[in-house]
Amino acid sequence: MNSAAPTDPPPSHSPLQKLEEGGALSHFASSIAHEVCNPLSQIVLATDLLAGPRPMTDDLRKKIVAYLRQGSERIDKAMKSMLQTCAPIETSMTTEDANHLVEAALSSLLLDGKVKIEKHLTPGLPTVLVDKAHMTDAIAGLCTNALDAMRPNGGTLTITSSAKVFTSSEREGWQRQSWFRAGDHAVVIEIADTGHGIHESQIPLIFEPFYTTKTAGKGAGLGLTVAKKIVDLHHGRLEVGNRPEGGVLAVLTLKSAIQSSLPTDS
Ligand SMILES: Nc1ncnc2c1ncn2[C@@H]1O[C@H](COP(=O)(O)OP(=O)(O)OP(=O)(O)O)[C@@H](O)[C@H]1O
Ligand SMILES: [Mg+2]
Repeated sequence: MNSAAPTDPPPSHSPLQKLEEGGALSHFASSIAHEVCNPLSQIVLATDLLAGPRPMTDDLRKKIVAYLRQGSERIDKAMKSMLQTCAPIETSMTTEDANHLVEAALSSLLLDGKVKIEKHLTPGLPTVLVDKAHMTDAIAGLCTNALDAMRPNGGTLTITSSAKVFTSSEREGWQRQSWFRAGDHAVVIEIADTGHGIHESQIPLIFEPFYTTKTAGKGAGLGLTVAKKIVDLHHGRLEVGNRPEGGVLAVLTLKSAIQSSLPTDS
C-alpha cells in the first residue's frame, strides 16, 4: 500500500525571520549601528578627555563641547529619521501658502558662499493643506541633497513654484486611486541643482531606506525615504531625476486646498 509521504508542516516564520528575508533586517541593523556607534565614539572620546589628566584649557573645553554636540546631534537626527521611516508619521494639517514653506526650508539651510540660490516663486498660488513642519522638512531635505551634490565647487540651486491644473487624471504606479484627477488644482515646487547628478543605475535605489552614496557621517540615506513618505501622506507626488543639462531636478506636486472644477475622467 502506498502511503503518502508525510508532509512537512508549513514553515512558521517569526516576524523577525520574515523581516530578515532578503537581508533587510541585517541591513537595517548594521545601518542603525553605524549611525549610532560612530557618533557615540565621539561622545566617549569627549568623556575620556574630560576625565583625563590634561589641564582644562579654553581650547580643550571647546573641543569637548564640539565632540559632545556633534555626536549627540547626529544620534538625534538619525533616531528621528529612523522613527519617521518605520513608525506612522503624525500630521497636523493647516492651510498654507507653498511659498512660505519654501522660504522656511531655505532659511533652515547651512549655506556657504559657493552656492547661488535663485528663487522663482509665483505669487498668489492656491493654498495647500499640509503638515507645515513635515513638509518644510521634506523641502529642506531635497535642498540639502542639492547642496551636497554641489560640494566642494559650488553651483546654483534654483527653486521654482508654480500653479498647475490637471487636464486629465494621472495615476501613480500601483495606486488604484488616481492621485490627481482632471480639474485638480495643484502647486508644483521644483528644486534644480548643478551638481554631479545621480548615476542612472542608482536612480531606482534613491528612495530606499539607508541608500546613500555619502561618506559616513554625511548622510544616513533616509532623507528621500522620509520625504517620499511625507509627500505620500499628503497624496502628493515626488519625482527625482537627472536634468539633461547636468545636475538633478526634484519635482514636488501638491494638491491645492481648493476644490477641483472639472468633471473627473476616472
Ligand atoms: N540632488 C542630488 N544630486 C545627486 N545625488 C542625489 C541628489 N539627491 C539624492 N541623491 C542621491 O540619493 C541618495 C539618497 O538620498 P537621501 O536624501 O535619501 O539620503 P542622504 O542624503 O544620502 O542621507 P540623509 O538625507 O539621510 O542625510 C544620496 O546619497 C545621493 O546619492
Ligand atoms: Mg538627503
